[in-house]
Amino acid sequence: MTDPKKSPSVSIQVERNQSASIGDQIYASLRSSIHEGILQAGSRLPSGRALAAQLGVARGTIRVAYDRLAAEGLIYGAGSAGTWVSSKLPPMPSEHEEILDRPLAVFTRPYSSAPLPFQVGVPANDAFPSKIWERMRARAVRADALSYTTYADPRGEPGLRAQIASHLAVSRQIQCHPDQIIVTSGYRQGLMLTLMALQASGHRAWLEEPGYPLGRLALELAGLTVEPIAVDAEGLCVEEGIVRAPDALIALVTPGQQAPLGATLSSKRRRDLLRWATAQNAWIVEDDYLGELQLDGHATPALASGDGAERVIHIGTFSKTMSPSLGLGFVVAPKSLTEKFVAITAVMLPAPNRTTQLAIAEFLADGHFLRHLRQMKDLYYDRRAHAMTCLRKTFPMIEGSGLGLVAFLPETANDVMLVSAAREQGLAPSALSPWYSNATNAKQGLILSITNLRADNIAAACASLSDVIAAHIKA
Ligand SMILES: Cc1ncc(COP(=O)(O)O)c(C=O)c1O
Repeated sequence: MTDPKKSPSVSIQVERNQSASIGDQIYASLRSSIHEGILQAGSRLPSGRALAAQLGVARGTIRVAYDRLAAEGLIYGAGSAGTWVSSKLPPMPSEHEEILDRPLAVFTRPYSSAPLPFQVGVPANDAFPSKIWERMRARAVRADALSYTTYADPRGEPGLRAQIASHLAVSRQIQCHPDQIIVTSGYRQGLMLTLMALQASGHRAWLEEPGYPLGRLALELAGLTVEPIAVDAEGLCVEEGIVRAPDALIALVTPGQQAPLGATLSSKRRRDLLRWATAQNAWIVEDDYLGELQLDGHATPALASGDGAERVIHIGTFSKTMSPSLGLGFVVAPKSLTEKFVAITAVMLPAPNRTTQLAIAEFLADGHFLRHLRQMKDLYYDRRAHAMTCLRKTFPMIEGSGLGLVAFLPETANDVMLVSAAREQGLAPSALSPWYSNATNAKQGLILSITNLRADNIAAACASLSDVIAAHIKA
């Protein structure tokens, strides 16, 4: 029997003249050794330092390879106790699955399963208004039966667009005509539509540093060059953006509650941002992912609500306020762009699922949505306070942000490895460092959603996370 405490010898061939980088070769070699059982589940890996010396490469190269394997759940770091092959390996993907899955691995897993404690981006599973929603959906299915064979309005159902426009007037102070509203499958489709409407390929875009990784990927896929702009307690550092990339076409921002750090864009920065966009004929893309769902005080009005609003494309979503499983969001297009947006919806990106649209329209019209938001604010406020109390000892540097907490870790920590170790314990925090575009700016930390910390799981979840941290962070 092999002694699990002893690091196995690892045989890796590195070819310096291959087209694959050395880091990629090391990652691929370790990965296949794990899948083939050469490196057994539960066994210890050589330290980064030892492997780097063995292969004659920089320690950082090994660290990146280990981070990638950790993100796939194949290994985890146990601080001073070393790096280990996971005891429960995820099923080995077939070649075909691997190709499909790889871009998703770093983001919001697990998909299509009950949310785990600390899982970011999902509302409270136990507080979804399922009874009312089932009733509304049943009615919507019957209403939809009257038009089984017609084309639906590609902008979205007129009744829903009218409801969204009235809701935005009250809750986000946006004055817009329902015809400026375009229903989408969520924020991501709204962003895609926007990038197409602006014919943004080849241009530069400001992106908050740190900022939503899928936003960054969308900009890159659409052919833009991302300019990471720092964020501080007043939100995006607009002055830095103006110095670094004055001619950018787009500033992609989360002004209400910065994702992931939580700051609200200060009034001076709002003015400066709008002034810059107006002067440069640039566009501000407002990612209003939490809408008015702000746990402390009242949400500030949307950027798209005041002077300069004609330069703002406001994107909202029902993913956080209701559920991402609905697959519904919306864009408020400035009047000058509405025609372009509508043309794209008609040709390429029509609004999704008419039945869900009809159901949510009734949900809004009958006042259930506002009631639900009020209940969620109270619930999340209590859950966050409780989690803060439980976790403060483990994380001296912990702050409230959006629907969760951000726990900053010492620079020497490895948040990606920690996340992988936490996943082994059935917890799903997110690592902060991948939210930075520029690795040299990256801070180590955990993003901890409180939405699914209930009375019956919060103490155990916090204790288990504290144990993971204790095992990984050297005193
Ligand atoms: C900053 C930010 N914007 C947008 C979204 C998601 O939007 P959607 O599910 O509507 O695509 C998320 C989800 O986590 C997010 O964190």
